[in-house]
Amino acid sequence: MSPFLLTRTLPEDATEAALRADVLHGLTRTPKTLPPKWFYDAHGSELFEKITELPEYYPTRAEREILSARAGEIAAATGARTVVELGSGSSEKTRHLLDALPGLHTYVPVDVSESALSLAGRALAAERPDLGVHALIADFTAGLTLPDTPGPRLVAFLGGTIGNLLPDERAAFLASVRSLLAPGDTLLLGTDLVKDPAVLVAAYDDAAGVTAAFNKNVLSVVNRELGADFDLDDFEHVALWDAANEWIEMRLRSRTAQTVKIPTLELAVDFEDGEELRTEISAKFRKERVRDDLAAAGLELAHWWTDEEGRFALSLSVAR
Ligand code: SAH
Ligand code: TRP
Repeated sequence: MSPFLLTRTLPEDATEAALRADVLHGLTRTPKTLPPKWFYDAHGSELFEKITELPEYYPTRAEREILSARAGEIAAATGARTVVELGSGSSEKTRHLLDALPGLHTYVPVDVSESALSLAGRALAAERPDLGVHALIADFTAGLTLPDTPGPRLVAFLGGTIGNLLPDERAAFLASVRSLLAPGDTLLLGTDLVKDPAVLVAAYDDAAGVTAAFNKNVLSVVNRELGADFDLDDFEHVALWDAANEWIEMRLRSRTAQTVKIPTLELAVDFEDGEELRTEISAKFRKERVRDDLAAAGLELAHWWTDEEGRFALSLSVAR
């Protein structure tokens, strides 16, 4: 068996403190918000995997198509010996890439979801006994320290997860990724593209209601971790296209006027009838925006690949 290491970079009570701070800040401001990383407890990660298989949710299939078609080109262009994947989830699509890199030494999946990491890490270690797998439970927005492994290093950030960051968070994030790289190291970035709003909205509001359950799961996390009494049936899942910002916005709309108690925070949160809580954005991109955002962080766009239908893009950029 290959070495499989699972390292927690933050103590569990720090995670708890971060959740408390985020909930207190997000639910006492107007409009109310909750940050998306709290969707992903074990149940949330399972629901996300179900989302990736929905007929309406095309990004996973489109990105897998690009990865399997281009893995050889990516391998040749990067020569990566270490692949770091941020928000790796199941690592399922990434296998195309890992299998194409002849000199690969270590794979470092990074995720806040311990359950997703240990499932994916163990499966990989069993399949690829030659490969070192060093999984990190960490927040990719909070300044990462990576294990000391051989270069060249390739950082992969797939699934369009970069779209879940607000523009200023995205700029800070790309700068922090650049700081993990040496000149010549690379970033492989998956970005969903601007398209017909009806197609976009359906991808975030599926007929089977899986995305609605995923969105509401953040309330279950707050109930369990902070003793809150959110009634999930009192909230409605909303997905809308914000044309000015070119992003999908996910919200939870209160079906009645209600007060939610959060004992751990000694907080009572009033919702008006119809009041909306923003849980996530999913920004959609055009090539120019990707190129400019990368350039601002010191990363030069070298390759741009899309699926046949032009729905999703994978870009490879090089640290200057
Ligand atoms: N890369 C996978 C999963 C995408 S879903 C795919 O393309 O299918 C987003 C993933 O990022 C989830 O696994 C979630 O747990 C993780 N995640 C979200 N916010 C995070 C954060 N701030 N730090 C680390 N991981 C995060
Ligand atoms: N990174 C995914 C995306 O933006 C996350 C996601 C998919 C998501 N569906 C969701 C987040 C529904 C919240 C609600 O496509």
